[in-house]
Formats: sequence, C-alpha cells, structure tokens
Amino acid sequence: MKTITVLSRKGGSGKTTLAVNLALMAFLRGHKVLLADIDPQRSASDALRARGEPGPVLADINAGKLFMTQSNAMRDCFDYLFVDTPAMPEADVAQAVNIADVCLVAGRPSFLDLAPIVRTAEAVRRLGKGGMVVLNQAHTSRSDVAPVAFPDIMEALRFCGLPLAPHGLRSREAFQKAMARGLCVAEFEPGGPAARDLERLWAHVEAGLDGLGRGLGQTPMKTALTA
Ligand SMILES: Nc1ncnc2c1ncn2[C@@H]1O[C@H](COP(=O)(O)OP(=O)(O)OP(=O)(O)O)[C@@H](O)[C@H]1O
Ligand SMILES: [Mg+2]
Repeated sequence: MKTITVLSRKGGSGKTTLAVNLALMAFLRGHKVLLADIDPQRSASDALRARGEPGPVLADINAGKLFMTQSNAMRDCFDYLFVDTPAMPEADVAQAVNIADVCLVAGRPSFLDLAPIVRTAEAVRRLGKGGMVVLNQAHTSRSDVAPVAFPDIMEALRFCGLPLAPHGLRSREAFQKAMARGLCVAEFEPGGPAARDLERLWAHVEAGLDGLGRGLGQTPMKTALTA
C-alpha cells in the first residue's frame, strides 16, 4: 500500500480538490482506496458523502488516529491511502507527513502562495520525506497545453527542495461542480480538459511512487509548466 499525503500551509490552495480527485481517480482505475480526512473542516468527507455511487472508503479522523488507520488499511489490503490535511496545526500535518510515502504540496502559481509552498516543501524535507509540488488553479491561454505560470515563480520553485510536477491543474469550473456531487472530474466531464490534467498528473504520481519517497526531491525535474 502507498500513502499519499496532500498538504500546504496555505489555506484554499487546493489540498482537498487534489486529494479527493486523485483518490477518486485511483478508485476508478480499479484500486482499493482509503481517503483519510484529518481536517476538522471535513471538506473531503462532505465531498465523498455527496457521492451517490461506490467510491473510496472514507475515514474522518483526527491526526492521532492516522498511524492506526494506516496499519488497518495495510492489513485490509488497500492499495492507496490518501490523506487530506488542514493548513494548520503543524503537528497534525507532521503526523500525516510521517506516515507518507509521497507528499504532494499543493499551491497556486501566485506570488502570495510562493512562500507557503517553499516552507511546506522545506518541512517535508526536514521530516526526511520526498514528494513534489503540484501547481493548482494555474491559468492558461489555451486549453490544449499545460498550465502556464509566471517564469519568476517557476524559477523560485526550482529551489524549494522538492521537484515540480510536470502536470498541474488549471482553474476549471469542472473541479467545483464535480466536487459538489462527490465526483471525479474524469466522471463529471470525461475527456474534458480538467480530466486530462488530472489523468496526466495521476499517471506521473503513480509512475514515480517508488522513487519519490526515497528523496527524488533532491533532483529538480524538468517541467512542462512553463510551456
Ligand atoms: N483547479 C481548480 N479549479 C477551480 N476551482 C478550484 C480548483 N482547485 C480548487 N478550487 C476551488 O478553490 C477552493 C479551495 O480549494 P480546496 O478546498 O481544495 O483548497 P484547500 O487547500 O483544501 O483549502 P483548506 O485550506 O480550506 O482546506 C474551493 O472552492 C475549490 O472548489
Ligand atoms: Mg481542504
């Protein structure tokens, strides 16, 4: 079983959107998936409860139960455990990082998100974990290309200690509409641009799962995000 923790010190950066959509994507690909929601806001729980069809198993728990939840999930042969975290408190988020194979740091490609992304990435590295930064709500002028971010932001992120995922998520209404029904964007709008972004991101995360947890973050990846 692989544990994927989604985190960011910045509120509203897309942690829940990423965690829920990736968990649903893994589920739709036939995997046995558990989504642990340790955010007292319970946004991921609300989303999954709005779902009318089978989906990932939900564990709305506090951070103190994470270790036991992970052990039980391993025993019950889950393939993936996704953890959606709150922006704070740091101690709760650290517990989610500690049990992770891979940490995904969610952030918008904007000036005000930059410092929180860098600090979150540093915290992941300090705890001896690897992962990547996933840009969310990026803008693009064309629907068929990867998200575009400002070159100075991309440059700053090269030094944050974690690689940048080559595929991020653009700002799309589909993410909000799908979430309200507990759907993955790939179910809500199959083949649409939001679904394509998510599928590319999941393919990258899944392909790299073995290497990422072992410090792949030391080598910044070439990224398509500036294309
Ligand atoms: N790619 C996207 N396109 C459009 N809307 C998005 C996208 N990502 C997130 N949003 C919207 O932005 C808002 C914040 O997203 P989300 O709740 O996922 O962030 P969060 O980091 O989990 O927030 P919090 O820190 O409060 O837990 C939500 O209304 C969500 O629907
Ligand atoms: Mg959230």
